Amino acid sequence: MSVVHQSRAVFRSTGVPVGVEVTGADISQGMDTETFRAIESVFNDNGVIFFRNQKLTPEQLLGFSRQFGTLEKHVRQEYALPGYPEIHLISNIKEGERSIGSAYAGDDWHTDLCFTRRPSRCSLLYAVEVPIRDGRVLGDTEFCSVAFAYDTLPDGMRQRLHGLRAIFQYHRAQERKRKQRVHDHPRPELTPEQKAATPDVTHPAVRAHPITGRKCLYVNQTYTFGIEGMDEEGAQPLLQQLYAHITRPRYVYRHKWQAGDVLIWDNCLTQHKAITDYALPQRRLMYRTSVEGTEPL
Ligand code: SIN
Repeated sequence: MSVVHQSRAVFRSTGVPVGVEVTGADISQGMDTETFRAIESVFNDNGVIFFRNQKLTPEQLLGFSRQFGTLEKHVRQEYALPGYPEIHLISNIKEGERSIGSAYAGDDWHTDLCFTRRPSRCSLLYAVEVPIRDGRVLGDTEFCSVAFAYDTLPDGMRQRLHGLRAIFQYHRAQERKRKQRVHDHPRPELTPEQKAATPDVTHPAVRAHPITGRKCLYVNQTYTFGIEGMDEEGAQPLLQQLYAHITRPRYVYRHKWQAGDVLIWDNCLTQHKAITDYALPQRRLMYRTSVEGTEPL
């Protein structure tokens, strides 16, 4: 792909601790190193950046995603865009009885692939179709900063968390999700191979950002099911207290999607939650790519 010099990228904060809009950059044109580095640096500090009005082929989305690192293939390959194993479809669209993508994915606070040993560095979401009802766009996504959450914890809580490891369980989260949506979007049960590929893992409850070293809270409502060495009665109240702190509404950025948006989030610095206030015939189709990360430390 030819690369156009685009050093006119402009950054505008959303006004809460997370979220920066980038204007003056056309992803389809490819991005020179200088522009990309400027964008990446803002991204590493903030955790969420987005571009409006992009028109991308799958190859262009993959090319831009690869500037952030090596791409991963989601364990649920049944939801890949046909011919593109690295593009995971998030969609409520059906072909016959089957959902073409992961329907209503991520509708509680979480961070992507935290249930693996090396969770993704970041995820990119490209909005292809957004649901609209009575002229109103539905299916927003909310974001919060877990670096800000850590920074604003009382000292006593920071000390309490020191050295703790949280337990992440993909199969339990999937089973819960399967039951919730059994009526309208039944997900197939995980195959023995998918289960074997996603054993339970533990990660530090506070991890350092792999690039900036900033400390981030690393527990979330969807995939964290306990704290190593602590019983349920000890772990659950602690986790609930942390979740309430992380997701304080006044610090949340709520992204209102437009078709053509490309939004990127850092899976160490942030958490996100999809708002599932739409249903067929309102269609939502998003292409998601995920970039390999490092083991949380
Ligand atoms: C996700 O959690 O990856 C999907 C978010 C969304 O669909 O808004």
